[in-house]
Amino acid sequence: MKAVVYQGPFDIAVEEVPDPRIEQPLDAIIRITTANICGSDLHPYEGRAPLEAGMVLGHENMGVVQEVGPGVNRIKVGNRVSVPFNIGCGSCRNCDAGWTSACLRANPSGRPTAGYGYPMMGPYWGGQAEYLRVPWADFNLLELPEGTEYETDFTLLSDIFPTGYHGTELAQVCPGDTVAIFGAGPVGLMAAHSASLRGASQIFVVDKEPDRLRLAERFGATAVNFAEADPTEVIIDCTDGFGVDCGVEAVGYQAHDPTGQEHPEMVLDKLVEVVRATGRLGIVGVYIPQDPGAATETAKQGRYAFNYGQVFDKGISMGQGQCPVKRYNRQLRDLIIRGRAKPSVIVSHELPLEAAPEAYEKFDKRVEGWTKVLLHPAA
Ligand SMILES: NC(=O)c1ccc[n+]([C@@H]2O[C@H](COP(=O)([O-])OP(=O)(O)OC[C@H]3O[C@@H](n4cnc5c(N)ncnc54)[C@H](O)[C@@H]3O)[C@@H](O)[C@H]2O)c1
Ligand SMILES: [Zn+2]
Ligand SMILES: [Zn+2]
Repeated sequence: MKAVVYQGPFDIAVEEVPDPRIEQPLDAIIRITTANICGSDLHPYEGRAPLEAGMVLGHENMGVVQEVGPGVNRIKVGNRVSVPFNIGCGSCRNCDAGWTSACLRANPSGRPTAGYGYPMMGPYWGGQAEYLRVPWADFNLLELPEGTEYETDFTLLSDIFPTGYHGTELAQVCPGDTVAIFGAGPVGLMAAHSASLRGASQIFVVDKEPDRLRLAERFGATAVNFAEADPTEVIIDCTDGFGVDCGVEAVGYQAHDPTGQEHPEMVLDKLVEVVRATGRLGIVGVYIPQDPGAATETAKQGRYAFNYGQVFDKGISMGQGQCPVKRYNRQLRDLIIRGRAKPSVIVSHELPLEAAPEAYEKFDKRVEGWTKVLLHPAA
C-alpha cells in the first residue's frame, strides 16, 4: 500500500510499504477514507519528539472496515468507523475506568498510553496510508452512519473535536461561564466550539494568526491578537476586573512570542493571570518530560517554570493530559448528525496522500489559510 513514511526531521515521503494484516484475533483492518494531519504530528516532524525512521504517520483516522479477526463480533466488514487516536485494550484498570488515554496494556514498552504512528506510543503504524490495523477493534471503533455524508465533520472525531471538548471538561465549563482559550489552532478552535455547545456566556480566543482568529469568531468567540494587545489587559477589562471562570490551554510546550521566540511557560503564566480566583484550568496543549531542543535549561528537563505561586494563591484547579477520546466521541458524533455541531468549519484542505510532504511543510510554517489538512488516500 501507499503510506506517509517518516524519514527524519522535516523529511517525510509517500512510499510503498507492506499492507497491514490481521495479527491478533481482535484486530480489524480499515480501508482509510480520510486521515488528518495534526499539530501533534509537527512535534516529530520538527524533530522535537524522537521517532524512528520508517514509521507510518497518522493518528487521526476514519474509514471502512475491510477485514476482521476471528474474535471480532460487534464490528462488521463494511462498517464505516472513526478510529480514536488512543489505543485501549478495554480491560485494564484505566480502560475500565474510561481512561483509554492511559491504557496499561496496549504499549509493549510499558508506558501507560498507546496510539498510532506516534513517538513513544508503541509500534502501531499510523493511518496516513491506504490501510490501518486497529487492535481490540470491538472496543476501540466508533460506528458511523453508512455512506459519505459528514465525512469532513466525522473525521475530526478521532482526536481534535474530543480533545477540544476535553479541555472544556477539565475546565468544567458550565452554562453562563466566561472562558479564555489560548491557541486558535485546530484544538483551540474545537475548544471554542465545545465551550459554546456547553453554554458559555463569552469565549475569548487568543492567537496571533489572523486567519485562525477569524475562524474563532465564526464559533462566536471574541478574538484577541496577542501580537497587537496584551491578552491579560483585554480579558480582565472585559470581565469587570475579575477574570474568566475557565481557561483552556491549546498551545503546548512550543508557545512563543510574536517574534517566534519560544517561551515554554508563557501561556501557562497568562492563563493563571486571566482566570479568576477559584477558577478552573484545562490544559490539553502538550508538555513533555524531556525536550532537548527546548529554549530554556529547565524546560529541557520537562520543568516548566510558570507562576505556580499564583495558582495556589488564587485557588485555581488544574486538569491536564491526553484526551480519552472514547469518553466523548459518541455524543459529539450525535451532535454532528443532529445538526448541533459543525466542526468542519476549520477544514482548509482536502488532498490526496501524495500531497502530504507539501501539506506538512505548509501546516508547519502556519502558512496563511493552512488550518486543517485532510488526506484522502483513495483520491
Ligand atoms: N491532549 C491531547 O490529547 C492532545 C491531542 C491533540 C493535540 N494536542 C496538542 O494541542 C496543541 C495544539 O494542537 P493544534 O493542532 O491546534 O496545533 P497548532 O500548532 O496548529 O496550534 C497552536 C496555535 O498556538 C498558537 N500560539 C503559539 N504561541 C502562542 C501564545 N503565546 N499565545 C497564544 N497562542 C499561541 C500558534 O500560533 C498556533 O495557531 C499541541 O500541543 C498538540 O500537540 C493535544
Ligand atoms: Zn491529533
Ligand atoms: Zn487498557
